[in-house]
Amino acid sequence: MSIRLSSGKEIPIEMHKVRILQKIRLASVGERLKAIEEGGYNTFLLRTRDVFLDMLTDSGVNAMSDYQLAGMMVADDAYAGGESYYRLLSAVEDVLGYQYCMPAHQGRAAEHLIDKVFLKSGQVVLTNYHFTTTRAHVELLGGRMLEIYGDEALKTESSHPFKGNIDIERMKECIKKYGRDGIAYVRIEATTNLIGGQPFSMENMRAVRELCDKHGIPFVLDGSLISENAYLVKERVRGYETKSIAEIIKEMCSLADVYYMSARKNASVRGGLIATNNKEYFLKLRDWLPVYEGFLTYGGMSVKEVEAMSVGLRDITDEDVAGCSVRQVKYFVNRLLEYDVPVVTPPGGLACHLDARRFLPQVPQHEYPAGALAAAIYLASGIRTMERGTISTDRDPSTGKEIMADVELTRIAVPRRVYTISHIEYAVDRVAWLYRHRDLVKGLKFTDEPPVLRFFFGKLAALDGWSERLCEAYRKELGEY
Ligand code: F0G
Repeated sequence: MSIRLSSGKEIPIEMHKVRILQKIRLASVGERLKAIEEGGYNTFLLRTRDVFLDMLTDSGVNAMSDYQLAGMMVADDAYAGGESYYRLLSAVEDVLGYQYCMPAHQGRAAEHLIDKVFLKSGQVVLTNYHFTTTRAHVELLGGRMLEIYGDEALKTESSHPFKGNIDIERMKECIKKYGRDGIAYVRIEATTNLIGGQPFSMENMRAVRELCDKHGIPFVLDGSLISENAYLVKERVRGYETKSIAEIIKEMCSLADVYYMSARKNASVRGGLIATNNKEYFLKLRDWLPVYEGFLTYGGMSVKEVEAMSVGLRDITDEDVAGCSVRQVKYFVNRLLEYDVPVVTPPGGLACHLDARRFLPQVPQHEYPAGALAAAIYLASGIRTMERGTISTDRDPSTGKEIMADVELTRIAVPRRVYTISHIEYAVDRVAWLYRHRDLVKGLKFTDEPPVLRFFFGKLAALDGWSERLCEAYRKELGEY
């Protein structure tokens, strides 16, 4: 919940206490420079011993609840028919309202299976926005993702409450153009990751459902961040404030034919799942499961994680769990706005996103402003963030040409129940310091560029030696730490 202090100021208050902890270390600015050089200015290539706050992602790094850990102790190791699977089935039915379910080792494994079953080469997938792994799987099978977002979606300064909505008119045009047979499925992503954790509205989902029904197109929901989307619907739509998170999640799920999720996010484990009420779809998907993942009752996951996933699914119906990251993100964004730092508004789920083009207007897009900003934040704070811009968008595979991303975001993820307000305050202070010294930051260039998902392993160098000058300025004002 949020608490109002006697001064009138509101702060998000953690509705949990720390019972197990991991020590973290703040490396000196000299050590940070060495680490980022060695990591090729790619935050994925840093070692955690050199990272103070790990805000790279909210995936697989959330704090688990005591009941999740307890669940791991009673997991059933059986290869087939394990009781953990049946407990998962009952959690999926209770929380999501689906009768059929299969675990998969993580979200992208679910995407792989869904595309294997639903997509034929040459078809398109209509979506509110792609996710990197989603698009990679669609393209590997010869398909294309068409993003049919609305006018506000890519505006980083906005007050639109549902930038994750699908544009219904554009959807109609696509159906006219490609016909039922040209469209594999429509996919909507909860709390749309790459445009800044922006939700869709229930009204929009209902309109998409209607069109899918009319044309017989399967409707797929990526629910990796479903509880945050539900929380934002509750917060932003009149009439929903009195509904529970459980009711809103159920209502969203009832509108989709196929549901999948990376359980590394909302469910706070390491795994994923696919669920549906359509028996035919389930059987088709199930046939491929043992080929790529494992037997139905564990799907490539550790059974301990399967067990914890069931508990995690039940946990997200608690408003304090669904809202924990959203509230911290809102606080983070609003604090940065006090220093005029260009952040994505309105605040959404999963992370505070900086608009790197507005932060570093001197860095042209082909010199990767979002990547340069991620490296600069690490140098100025020891905080690891993630580039979500042109580096995360691979080159056109046929021409080798650079594809400029729609938005250049540097994502400062807020893992669920991991960091406290004093950590956020530290991040705000160092990002604001960097903003005052933004003129010192220049671009990056690739020195080693992999052909697919290059952001994971690619190495870059700082143009003009800007990183050393930035560290000098830091030392002069703040010392080694
Ligand atoms: N869908 C969404 C919306 C995601 O955010 C992710 C992963 C996936 C699918 C793929 O799931 O990683 O379990 O295979 N997002 C992570 C991130 C990687 O850092 O945003 P996965």
